[in-house]
Amino acid sequence: NIKLFTSIKGLCSNSSKQKLILMSLPHNVIDKCIDELILYLNKDDIIADLGNSFFLDTRKRFQKVHENHFHFLGIGVSGGPNGAKEGPSIMAGGSKTAWKKIKNIFIDISAKKDNVPACGFFGNPGNGHLVKMVHNGIEYAIMQLIAEVYDLLKRGYGVEDAKIQQLFEKWNNSELASFLVEITAGILKKEDEVTGKGILLNYISDAAKAKGTGKWTSQNAMDIQAPIPSINAAVEMRDISKYKEERVEASKQLKWDDVSETSEEEIFAALTDAFYFGMITIYAQGLAQLTIASKEYDYGLNLEEVAKIWRGGCIIRAACLEDFRQAYSKSPELPNLLLDETIGKTLVEKQAAARNVVKAFIDKGIPSSVFSSTVSYFDSYRSEILPTNLIQAQRDFFGAHKYERNDQEGIFHTEWN
Ligand code: 6PG
Repeated sequence: NIKLFTSIKGLCSNSSKQKLILMSLPHNVIDKCIDELILYLNKDDIIADLGNSFFLDTRKRFQKVHENHFHFLGIGVSGGPNGAKEGPSIMAGGSKTAWKKIKNIFIDISAKKDNVPACGFFGNPGNGHLVKMVHNGIEYAIMQLIAEVYDLLKRGYGVEDAKIQQLFEKWNNSELASFLVEITAGILKKEDEVTGKGILLNYISDAAKAKGTGKWTSQNAMDIQAPIPSINAAVEMRDISKYKEERVEASKQLKWDDVSETSEEEIFAALTDAFYFGMITIYAQGLAQLTIASKEYDYGLNLEEVAKIWRGGCIIRAACLEDFRQAYSKSPELPNLLLDETIGKTLVEKQAAARNVVKAFIDKGIPSSVFSSTVSYFDSYRSEILPTNLIQAQRDFFGAHKYERNDQEGIFHTEWN
């Protein structure tokens, strides 16, 4: 019994007294729709934005809608068209009263992991979209990490597509099991129907597009000083991919000979642990950003709940999310997953593999922005002393920006010349 309307006015005047408006739209038309909806809604009607909206915009919209005596919810939905059919992951925030009224609809349609719905309410108006935004940032970085593995094997070692496919298939039946690994195994065996020769992937242009949620994650991380180098690198790799003509030209001029001493067998032996290391380090960065954002904005985010919701239905669902859920359940105030004893121990054990793989990338001249950044993030985070004392000295030298000392209290300035 579905009716179609071509105007918001028509929709509103033809539906029941108590209305629930679910908008699944691009973020740049949400304000326009709200402005129009406000003209036709009745008190206590509910508007829910189910798209990818920037969480600070959601907060403003919540304010505006509430001032007009309606309810507003910002709900992040992950899973794409398949998720819509089989059950998406749902991250909500906004009006508590409205959520109480309608939550059963979302719980019912959401994915279930171990019979637990991948659906949660995170309180504050922008929280649902904040969690979804960082979800997408992590998504960008893991996609790029996978792409770099594929590049190292294919271009660096000349491994055949079928053998790379088998690796991802094997990974998906291991502790690396995850939706993105699973679909990569599927992509690597999809034949090209146009030419009938080889897999479709080999015919797809390498200029990547982006709708902007990864960029928002990076921009917000810069605002709140949350270090997420792997997500930033993934956003930038899509940007670099755009400059195809320049890359073609540079490939002719900027030569490098492969000097790697790591054999194909050795790289296959190291890659599994290395990928695990990279993947965990990426989740750690994204989840730490959520922790920092929650403090910065006083949002009271529950990180255990985030890990729980991400276990099912969403693009970054992975076996390791249950480990993260347990880590946050043990210590809800954990600032970074790297500090969880069990996760930290695993990373310490697997770091040698990651370092060896990064060396192979460098020696072969294959780009590894995300892979390298995971090792470098790990090294930065575990460094008791960083060379940023020199940065402070330089700032004071050229700009009289002052510095603090590590042996006494106070603010200092030196006449360096
Ligand atoms: C999801 C996806 C979804 C969408 C991204 C794609 O969780 O279902 O993340 O939100 O596919 O917007 O983003 P890009 O176009 O930026 O890669």
